[in-house]
Order: sequence, then C-alpha cells, then structure tokens
Amino acid sequence: MPDNFPQSLEPLANELRKASRVLCLTGAGVSAESGVPTFRDSGGLWEGSRPEDVATPEAFERDPDLVWRFYLARRRNLSSVRPNPAHEVIARFETLFPEFNVVTQNVDGLHQQAGNSRILCLHGDIWIDRCTVCTFERRVEASDGPVPRCDQCGALARPGVVWFGEMLPEGVFEQAVQLAADAQVVLVVGTSSQVYPAASLANVAQQSSAFVAEINPNATPFSDSADLVIPLNAGMVFPELERMLAESGRI
Ligand code: APR
Repeated sequence: MPDNFPQSLEPLANELRKASRVLCLTGAGVSAESGVPTFRDSGGLWEGSRPEDVATPEAFERDPDLVWRFYLARRRNLSSVRPNPAHEVIARFETLFPEFNVVTQNVDGLHQQAGNSRILCLHGDIWIDRCTVCTFERRVEASDGPVPRCDQCGALARPGVVWFGEMLPEGVFEQAVQLAADAQVVLVVGTSSQVYPAASLANVAQQSSAFVAEINPNATPFSDSADLVIPLNAGMVFPELERMLAESGRI
C-alpha cells in the first residue's frame, strides 16, 4: 500500500463530492483483477495473437475458423470470471450520482453483470453473434462448439465486436462525445489510451473543463494531460473512493 494512500485520492473525492454529472471511461485494465487478460500488458492478448490475424475484417475473410478460435477462447475464459470490486463500485456509482454514465472499450459484459445500465459499448459485445449477410443477431451464453452460423439464413456469423479498421456502432461515439463534453468529473480507468477514437474522449472532457483523473498503475499518453494521476489498480482505488464518499455523507 503506497504511503500516501488514500490521501492521494482526496482531490478526486473532493471533486466527486461536488459533482452531479460523472463519466467513467474504461478499458481492459478495469477487468484485469477479474482475471481477464488485457491487450498490451505483458502476457496480454496481443502477445499471443497479432491483431491483424484475429481482429480485422480481412482476417475473418481470410480465415474465419482462426478468428473464431480466438473469440471462443476469450468467451471460455470470460464464462468463469466475475465482476471485481472496481466493477461493483462503478455499478453503485450509477445510483449515487444524479447522472453517472460508463463508456467502455471492453466487450466482456462485466460492467453490465455488475449492474451498470447507463453504459455505451464503443467496441461492441463479445456475447453477440451477428450474421455476415442478413441483419440477424443473437446473444449467446455458450463458448464452445463449431463456427456459429446464422439461425435465419444459415450464413456464417461473426462476433458482435468492432474490429480494427471498422466503424464504431452507429451513433454510439457521438453519444459518448456528448457525455464527455457534459461531464463535470471523468474517471479514465484501465486504458492505455492508444486506440482511437475512444482515446480522444478524455481530451474532449478536459477541453470542456471537466476534472479528469486517470486510474492506471502504468503511465499512458494521456497521463501528462490528466488533472490527477492515480498510479494504482482500480480494484484498490474504487472501494477506497466509495468509503471516502460515504464518510463525507455523500452516500
Ligand atoms: N487497474 C487499472 N488499470 C490497469 C490494471 C488495473 N488493475 N491492470 C492493468 N491496467 C492498465 C494497464 O496499465 C494498461 O494501461 O490497463 C491498460 C490496458 O491497456 P490495453 O491492454 O491497451 O487495453 P485497452 O486500453 O482497453 O485497449 C483498447 O484496443 O485491442 C483493442 O479493442 C481492443 O478495446 C481494446 C482497445
């Protein structure tokens, strides 16, 4: 435990005590303590597979079985994990603040499992199979079996995630920009801030004079711009933040 903890959280707790519009921007790091591998940390998903081989439309066109093996393996891993304390506090924040939203790059569904309903998923949802021909899509539980096909037309299905080089879901990013522009406090949690356009949201918030805190044990390209950097794991920070807000009668 760092010797200036939890005092180092005080500037953020102070801002949250005053705020009514709060936005939480999350990346893979918020799920790390649930046992979900991130992408770019050592041991991350991009260490074992190359994005261009498993996470682009061209890769799927070239070898759908290989792409499905990658996503079915991620589904198998996810079927045994649960939200961690960071997810649980972020879910409780939804009722604590008059307006609390989550914008996530994650496709794992753990924020939703923890209870967040005001959430925008910029990169889609790994638990959705989507037809490559018609508009049919379905939510799946299973994480095994052959390459999924469309129930409606029999064509090959694909995972309902956004691949590199693809557009984000219609209108979702525009809504996220509006939330970032309106927020009074923004928590940037567990993202390496390297993938656009998601990584631009923190700057949108800052330009709209929000107080922006980065919660990440490692430095990122955004760290120098943050109003406050908390170089700690989300699973340690959020329960302490919630305790500080409760102590001050905010909860
Ligand atoms: N708490 C907070 N942050 C953490 C924790 C933790 N316990 N563990 C790791 N991190 C941080 C790492 O330091 C890193 O900066 O989480 C970040 C994870 O970065 P990435 O692996 O790059 O994940 P992310 O930023 O979500 O990637 C963005 O890239 O591959 C695409 O579509 C994929 O949505 C993904 C996007």
